[in-house]
Amino acid sequence: MLAVLYYVVPLMFCTFFAVLKWNKIRYSKKGMPPGSLGLPFIGETLKFLTRGPEFMKGRQSRYGSLFKTHALGSPMVVSMDPDTNRYILMNEGKGLVPGYPDSMRNILGTNIAEVHGAVHKRIRGSLLSLIGPVAVKDRLVPEVDEFMRSYLDNWDGKIIDLQEKTVEMSFCISLKAVVADEANSFIESFKATFDKMAVATISLPINIPGTNYYRGLKAREKAIPMLRELLAKRRASSATHGDILDHLMKTEDGGHKLDDEEIIEQIITIMYSGYETVSTTTMMAIKYLYDNPSILQEIWEEHFAIQQKKMPNEHITWDDYKNMNLTRAVILETMRLASVVAGVMRRTTNDIELNGFTIPKGWRVYVYTRETNFDPILYQEPFTFNPWRWLQKGLESHNHNMLFGAGGRVCPGKEWGMLKVSLFIHYFVTRYRWEEVKGNKKLENFPRVLAPDGLHIKITKY
Ligand code: HEM
Repeated sequence: MLAVLYYVVPLMFCTFFAVLKWNKIRYSKKGMPPGSLGLPFIGETLKFLTRGPEFMKGRQSRYGSLFKTHALGSPMVVSMDPDTNRYILMNEGKGLVPGYPDSMRNILGTNIAEVHGAVHKRIRGSLLSLIGPVAVKDRLVPEVDEFMRSYLDNWDGKIIDLQEKTVEMSFCISLKAVVADEANSFIESFKATFDKMAVATISLPINIPGTNYYRGLKAREKAIPMLRELLAKRRASSATHGDILDHLMKTEDGGHKLDDEEIIEQIITIMYSGYETVSTTTMMAIKYLYDNPSILQEIWEEHFAIQQKKMPNEHITWDDYKNMNLTRAVILETMRLASVVAGVMRRTTNDIELNGFTIPKGWRVYVYTRETNFDPILYQEPFTFNPWRWLQKGLESHNHNMLFGAGGRVCPGKEWGMLKVSLFIHYFVTRYRWEEVKGNKKLENFPRVLAPDGLHIKITKY
């Protein structure tokens, strides 16, 4: 009995506290930024995911703009200062490479974020030639126009969930660019599979039945053979389709011919990178326009003027798109205010000195750009939806605007994404009026911007 009191109970206490402090003991190193590492393995993931922006702000006021935490399965430093953020994004060569969570890497495979140096340069170059600004100007404008024109047909009199529709739009438009004429049955089945993968990319990597991560891995096991089958079908036929898959199968990038695995990874990269970013921006742009009728009126005038100059079936051109100045401003303001991208992630490949602190090798760095979106010096009255601010010279290219990232990883799909949202707005506002349907209009803003119960609107013809 005494032995229990003398030895077992203290041992249990020590073990209990050692477990609680395990992260601190395991990761402790001199000179690291202040902060708390939370519980073993889960760290502060729950607070990070459920109270995101408040959690970050709280930690910032306690520890400063560079602090440590432990989230999504690994120790992490969060950076909230715009200059430090930019420095991190501009200095991949100093050992600050993309470092997305294990869940993302395991679900998406060896995507572009996983490669560096010459291989990254080659893959990025290949992607730019497929979906970059020149491809948009030369090839993608009529394709996106054609899609939006027919996608936004026959909505008169309907009640739709705008979120569901913009998600479907964003997925289908990318898939059609990749494989031009696949049957609807393939599109539906691939979408259902891909959606499970997308959800699992931001989850704790716990591979047990019932978790999002488990479902995501199972979905990946299904998606890869579906894509392999597509490649086999293409090889067996002599037809040309002029789509991205044709290009990927035929092109040699700098003397490098892509093998099947690389083609599949490229497809997954294209499908994933431009999916939620475009759908959420589109949904939120329509939401902000609805909430700001005077801006909606001016947007309508911009698009009506373009429409007036055209025959009924005449395509929107690159020049028309470039003249949609207020629309571009609305999209940028939407991305800022809704914080569609809250931040990007890096991983250290060696011990790094940052603002006088040491960040150990192998740690994640969360370059949290969301707070800069509300910087009152850069954006006066930062909580007001004011697209006009983007028409001021230089704001889009300001060093602290990181809506599309910065440095060598800056978004290659920016123009394609902007075009999709712009043409959705074009056909939506020139064809329809809409009103929000009564009901739950809750919006979540972290880690994803989303309407958990959908965003239902009633549509009537203009
Ligand atoms: C309007 C919506 C979009 C937003 C807000 C957006 C935002 C971003 C951001 C912030 C990054 C930087 C990531 C980092 O530094 O780790 C990025 C990279 C990237 N984006 Fe976009 N993006 C959008 C649309 C698209 C589209 C339509 C595509 C088409 C495929 C695309 C493809 C990519 C790729 C491949 C990268 C990685 C580039 C690299 O690692 O070199 N994005 N995007």
